[in-house]
Amino acid sequence: MKAIVTGGCGFIASHVVDRLVSQGHDVTVIDNMSTGYIENIQHHLDKDAINLLKFDLGDMEKTKNALKNADAVFHLAANADVRHGLEDTFRDIDRNILVTYNILEAMRLNDVKQIIFSSTAATYGEPDVFPTPETYHPRQTSFYGASKIACEGFIEAFTEAYGIQSWMYRFVSIQGERHPHGVTYDFVKKLKADPTHLEILGDGTARKSYSYIGDCVDGFFTGYEKSPGKAELFNIGQTEFIDVRSVADIITNEMGLDNVEYNFTGGKRGWVGDSPLVHLDVSKLMAYGWKPQVNIEETVRRTVRWLLENPYVYK
Ligand SMILES: NC(=O)c1ccc[n+]([C@@H]2O[C@H](COP(=O)([O-])OP(=O)(O)OC[C@H]3O[C@@H](n4cnc5c(N)ncnc54)[C@H](O)[C@@H]3O)[C@@H](O)[C@H]2O)c1
Repeated sequence: MKAIVTGGCGFIASHVVDRLVSQGHDVTVIDNMSTGYIENIQHHLDKDAINLLKFDLGDMEKTKNALKNADAVFHLAANADVRHGLEDTFRDIDRNILVTYNILEAMRLNDVKQIIFSSTAATYGEPDVFPTPETYHPRQTSFYGASKIACEGFIEAFTEAYGIQSWMYRFVSIQGERHPHGVTYDFVKKLKADPTHLEILGDGTARKSYSYIGDCVDGFFTGYEKSPGKAELFNIGQTEFIDVRSVADIITNEMGLDNVEYNFTGGKRGWVGDSPLVHLDVSKLMAYGWKPQVNIEETVRRTVRWLLENPYVYK
């Protein structure tokens, strides 16, 4: 098939590109390079195995042209940072909702029939049911989560109206090779600068279900390949969770550091919109045969090792 991957130079989407290329598909990446790294897909460019189009998906004309004759759009381009929404209240609307609308409209005009979308566990806000199932009715606590749930709504409406197939995935925080933002990235960066102290946002008790990138991509393709695509919504996460202080312990241990002094900024949340407990119910996807293979400790250790060996993500 002819597959479009939006945000293909980014962390998760570059792994989706790897999978599609290994399956022999004709892959076009669209990326504006705002948070992407050419290094993430250079191995495919060297072999002429993919096409790369550098432009901003806010440009409707270019988006429409790029989607001609496509069979499926793997739409992962987004502002993926929860924290910055408060600095600019239009950013998540512009980068997430309007870009997703452009993709859907370009699909309609070009008769493209499949969209596979990366949503987020942030859409659950601060739920009171754990593990949280896809059927939970959430209240939004971040502009990012609100924008992603709006995207899901538009995808559902286009699916209903135009006979499009769609799959939407609410990811927990993903780590592993090419991890470019998030807790392990931040802690390694701070510890490289000062191996004696570590500032930890919040009080260290927040519990999260970090998931390994390989498991995330396996889940992404399991749902896509095995479920009917009638606006399917799947959680992707872990069956376990861990507190942030323990993550700091694993990271300092993996970096071979002793007696690092932790300085907590205090409060249950590291920032507005940060949920003190993220633990998603992943049984719906597991019923299709998927199962996370890498536990949280090993996920964090692999991420630390990769970050130390690949400093380009700290450019
Ligand atoms: N990383 C996580 O833990 C996580 C968790 C939940 C959901 N997600 C979602 O998964 C997707 C990928 O996240 P990621 O962590 O790989 O992010 P990332 O920042 O590494 O990748 C995003 C990519 O999209 C590109 N991009 C952004 N806006 C664009 C635009 N308007 N036009 C063209 N390209 C654009 C960026 O340059 C980048 O290459 C996002 O939709 C994010 O919301 C990520």
